[in-house]
Amino acid sequence: MKTLNESATGKAIDRVEGHLKVTGMAKYASEFPIKDKVYGQGLNSTIAKGEIVSIDTSEAEKLPGVLKIITYKNAEKLKTFDNKMTEVSTTTIAPVLQTNMVHFYGEYVGLVVAETFEQAQYAARLVKFKYKKDANPAIHLEKLRAKAYKPNDKSDYSRGDLKAGLAAADERLEVTYNTPIEHHHPMEMHAVIASWDNGKVIAYASQQIVNDATIAISDTFQIPKKDVRVVAAYVGGGFGSKLNVERHVIMAVMAAKMVGKPVQVTVTRQQMFTNTSLRQHNEQKMKVGAKKDGTLTALSHETLSHTSPTLEFQEACGLGTQMLYKVPNNFVTHRLVPLNIQTPFAMRAPGEATGSFALESAMDEMAWKLRMDPIDFRVKNDTQTDPSNNKPFSSRLLVECLRIGAEKFGWKDRKTEPRSNKKGNWLIGHGVSAAARSAPYLKTNSKVILVLEGDRVNATVQMDATDIGTGSYTIIAQTASEYLGIPVEQVKVELGDSNFPVTPGSGGSWGAASFCNGAMAACVNAIKTLKQNRNIKEEEEVELADLMKKNQLTKFEAEGSAGPSKEFDEHSVYSFGANFSEVWVDKDTGMFRIKRMVNVGAAGKILNPKTAYGQIIGGLTMGVGMAQAEQTRIEPNFGNFITRSFADYHVPVNLDMANINVVFLPEDDKIANKMGVKGIGELGITSVAASIANAIFNATGKRMRDLPITPEKLIEAKIEPGINI
Ligand code: MOS
Repeated sequence: MKTLNESATGKAIDRVEGHLKVTGMAKYASEFPIKDKVYGQGLNSTIAKGEIVSIDTSEAEKLPGVLKIITYKNAEKLKTFDNKMTEVSTTTIAPVLQTNMVHFYGEYVGLVVAETFEQAQYAARLVKFKYKKDANPAIHLEKLRAKAYKPNDKSDYSRGDLKAGLAAADERLEVTYNTPIEHHHPMEMHAVIASWDNGKVIAYASQQIVNDATIAISDTFQIPKKDVRVVAAYVGGGFGSKLNVERHVIMAVMAAKMVGKPVQVTVTRQQMFTNTSLRQHNEQKMKVGAKKDGTLTALSHETLSHTSPTLEFQEACGLGTQMLYKVPNNFVTHRLVPLNIQTPFAMRAPGEATGSFALESAMDEMAWKLRMDPIDFRVKNDTQTDPSNNKPFSSRLLVECLRIGAEKFGWKDRKTEPRSNKKGNWLIGHGVSAAARSAPYLKTNSKVILVLEGDRVNATVQMDATDIGTGSYTIIAQTASEYLGIPVEQVKVELGDSNFPVTPGSGGSWGAASFCNGAMAACVNAIKTLKQNRNIKEEEEVELADLMKKNQLTKFEAEGSAGPSKEFDEHSVYSFGANFSEVWVDKDTGMFRIKRMVNVGAAGKILNPKTAYGQIIGGLTMGVGMAQAEQTRIEPNFGNFITRSFADYHVPVNLDMANINVVFLPEDDKIANKMGVKGIGELGITSVAASIANAIFNATGKRMRDLPITPEKLIEAKIEPGINI
């Protein structure tokens, strides 16, 4: 087989769909020119808790173009939850408009359908709801600690004896970190165009996992899965918010049936705060014990968070604390309080992004207590065996990430003593953090269609995988190019259609590994079959075009599937990384700038350094957002979000970002999967906020334990005892 051609995996080729995107030809969900489509506009509750007592639709109904106003009164009866509290991960249904009960501010209470977008928007404002409001909605996590409950079996973990471990320590630390509610806000807003045809549904929808979306629609409406088709050819970001089908999809499908026309619902930017999930506020209590020489003796991580009154989601902040360091005594819990706030869900590196802020800040705090270099402290407690399950890591280059990062960053020039690196009004600091993110690999099917035209073979690879901006199209094309031995220009990749072979979709950093191994399997099968048919030995090199000719074929199709091996299951498979930050803090205003960042990752084979670099840059940017700006604030009396646009929910812009150096370590991990690919999308955000907070400590002597680190918090924070001012 021909291996390394110019467009094979590992090469930094341009995105194969790049031209389509920059010329506006790539079609996103709301851009499909569906004939006769009409528009739906979701209506949002204006109370946090209570019930609808009356609805007046008369004024709205009189408007020209208005086709239907759907509320709980006339909505189709859908499959609903059996229990009062349902675990998000265990349900495949997404009921909406089924009762008059309101559970959070902004919950959908209706949908207006009209001929034009403008008519729907205007009519939506004229629908009047009267509510019986509950006087005491649950909106303050801090005041409702007593209501915390243990969500599920996986929420508690322990090994050894935490108390004994703390007692055996020379230095102890007990601190609490807070991370606020955040929102995903992909550039492309959630959208769907749904229609019915002879009892069958087609939905053009902005979703990360096409197969799950078909299941959600079929289970919610109780129709066979084969009668549902979901198309998500291009997705403009998701970050977890598009993993599940959110309620606008179900409303659009319902409305399309009721009005007998295709219905488009595009969620507004404001509704993306209230109706497309969020990352919840986490209160994380850390306890760390260590010997003078830096040996960890105890580590515990207790997380308090919130969920909605009907659906349970728990962000597993403590998972990293179970596996990252060799420590015999370890204790992890997660507790939830039901609040009248929409159901939280996975946001980029759920668990790791927030959990690593607590863990990697605490590690830095302990290193300082021990007066030990924070890199040496981490290296001292490194392990090649996952202490949470005693499985060996398939490969773990964490020490290499830290050491090589230190070299690239110039760590040796860092001033150990906080507040000792100054330039005019600036206090300069350097911080480090370690990152680990599991590298899942899930069963993936794909199909390759080969067509001989003259002397060349054109290949089409199909699977229901999605490209959410990550580069799936490109890396799958490169994979086919490599394993078929043809240039990438002769490979066409077709994704995001539930008519194609089933994949796990995009999420949890499993996409690249799963999709590419799946594509490889189809390509390898194609060649194998073509050779077998003509009694050609497998190791004999034959051009694909010649193979087709020898088989007297002008068209040939093959399928393939790939998934984790027994060896995979017997190992802990993770990507590892290290983050380094340099911050400059204005000592009078508390304003700070992140001047430089170095990110080193060991994430298996890098399929395309260019798209991989983009993933890390995106992760670092979201990490800077966490550290510096992002937070969703709740109005304390009414329970509505007062940050509901980019004017008040701040995300970093170009000028906020630093000079970034991204380094990928060469890593050959064939236990992870045949191609040795591990995820990077979520590794990129993991522990970024901690490296920035640790740099701020080094600059100012102040421990910033509440994100985001705003100038006013920084000004008010006390310098830690024992630090020279
Ligand atoms: Mo990710 S939070 O699994 O899209």
